[in-house]
Amino acid sequence: MCGIAGYVGKKAVAPLLIEGLKRLEYRGYDSAGLALNANNQLYLEKAAGKVVELEKCVNAQPGLNELTGCGIAHTRWATHGRPTAVNAHPHLDGSNRFAVVHNGIIENYQELRRYLEGKNVHFRSETDSEVLVHLIAEAYEGNLLSAVAAALKQVKGTYGIAVISTLEPGLIVTARNGSPIVIGLGNGENLVASDVSPLLPYTSKVIYLNDGDIAAVYADKVDLRNINNMPVEREVARIDWDASAAEKGRYEHFMLKEIFEQPEAISNAIRGRLDAENGCSILNGLNLTPRDLAQISRIVIAGCGSSMHAGLLGEYYFEDIAGISTSVEQAAEFRYRNPIIEPNTLVIPISQSGETADTLAAVREAIRKGAVVTALCNVVGSTIAREAGRGIYLHAGPEMSVASTKGFTTQVAVLLLLALLLGRNRRLSRSEGIELVKQIEAVPDLIRSVLEQAPLIEEIAKRYAQVENFFYIGRGCLYPAALEGALKLKEISYIHAEGYHAAELKHGPISLLDENHPVLALANDVLGKDKIIGNIQECRARKAPVIALVAQGDTRVRSMTQDVIEIPQCSRFIAPLPSVVAMQLFAYYVAVARGCEIDQPRNLAKSVTVE
Ligand code: AGP
Repeated sequence: MCGIAGYVGKKAVAPLLIEGLKRLEYRGYDSAGLALNANNQLYLEKAAGKVVELEKCVNAQPGLNELTGCGIAHTRWATHGRPTAVNAHPHLDGSNRFAVVHNGIIENYQELRRYLEGKNVHFRSETDSEVLVHLIAEAYEGNLLSAVAAALKQVKGTYGIAVISTLEPGLIVTARNGSPIVIGLGNGENLVASDVSPLLPYTSKVIYLNDGDIAAVYADKVDLRNINNMPVEREVARIDWDASAAEKGRYEHFMLKEIFEQPEAISNAIRGRLDAENGCSILNGLNLTPRDLAQISRIVIAGCGSSMHAGLLGEYYFEDIAGISTSVEQAAEFRYRNPIIEPNTLVIPISQSGETADTLAAVREAIRKGAVVTALCNVVGSTIAREAGRGIYLHAGPEMSVASTKGFTTQVAVLLLLALLLGRNRRLSRSEGIELVKQIEAVPDLIRSVLEQAPLIEEIAKRYAQVENFFYIGRGCLYPAALEGALKLKEISYIHAEGYHAAELKHGPISLLDENHPVLALANDVLGKDKIIGNIQECRARKAPVIALVAQGDTRVRSMTQDVIEIPQCSRFIAPLPSVVAMQLFAYYVAVARGCEIDQPRNLAKSVTVE
């Protein structure tokens, strides 16, 4: 859950690293630091707080911004040790000849720390990561890559690291096990980062390290090996995102940009994947023949947070459209509870980042048990995508805001495509398939019509900006949508929002309702619309203010509440998509009205790469 950046080449290093860290801040932002290797010494700057605090420290050092050569940098999300400057990375050894930045968790760090302190090594920080730099210094015998490999062999846990040393100028050694590292191949310069966003201004050619890989990165070459010092070959991938795609553009926040990108993101997610003629979908990344598909007798979906909510919609789709028994699991539960997986079980891990530790562990558990694993990820080349071996990329483009928006809606769109494919592989008729294809193709325009209501939604949001509690209620496919809507509000406005099945209110939660406890009701339900009206009346009878999402033209609730958001008429399978977009906007405008930090909410990080 931290961001790493490194550069070796002819440019001034510090400004480039600071800019790279700013692009990685969504991965963690409680402290930051950098180390430059020049003039046979290491220049170190670290600061608590966001990257801008580090930038101030660097700018205050005469000449630091002009230094060229190589350097590494880190923006932190604390796991061990408080978010202070001392605990910020890079960490240096006692002789100040080695500097390390680390993303991950060293599970045996206490044991290693005791071993090193027994050799009179003095620790400066409270972190687990600092043991790495001292192990490297101890192992160094003239070859930095060998010393790093020797040190990492003593480590239990996860790491993505970058290392520099005054003893080998112009070199960054980088390695990964469980935390992502990508190398950017420039012209007379090379870069290292936790993901592609810092690399985009300099190159579109990248190499994703696999677990167990280690590399010596020079300005003019990359020597790639495994931890046992054997050369390895890795594909050079080409990134089709340009640097602007990772910028905010005309929007104040990444979250608003990504909300408004959803029509395009969903168009990209379904592009080339719908067969209107046969009422089917085309998912080449599955690498499963129709016969393989026909043998799937059960589906298990695993994910966390919004990805799990998308999975809950997948359950409705796979059972109702494809007729396949399906269950959804919080990935951390799946990995530890010894799940029953038969040979014909399809396990679908869902992860926007492709790096969520619990979801990655669920992938490994499913593979261990012989399941067919198909991952839904957004980040090309991410660990989950690669370890699953097959899957469907979301093609949503970079999602920078911690609160997932287009990641969620493209996951749902891809789940619909998969349900269509599996359905047509079974009892879904061609005409039913053609109808579903039309519904899916219409989603971008449905979302556009909701986005056009942004001013109305903003006006409603301002009226609710000071509340401290909220319920979101829905039925059928709108029940997972209610869970997702509540999560959005919770995570960026810090309001205690909970999603419930509408029928659940009477079983306890309704005791909390009063004039200070509003309810957002998804009343644009197709099947349960009479029931949800009753639920709204129950809420109003307790004086709870109600915001109602209603199907366009439905006037029945207007006598119960003034706060109505119209959602375009669409099928029950499709209704969650435009509904969630309305709730994303609502959450965004409430958080703005409350003056909250939007893209990097407190306590959160974009990718939870630790348990
Ligand atoms: C979503 O808004 C949250 N930021 C969070 O729940 C997120 O969905 C979860 O951490 C899973 O992330 P992933 O999709 O990258 O695996």
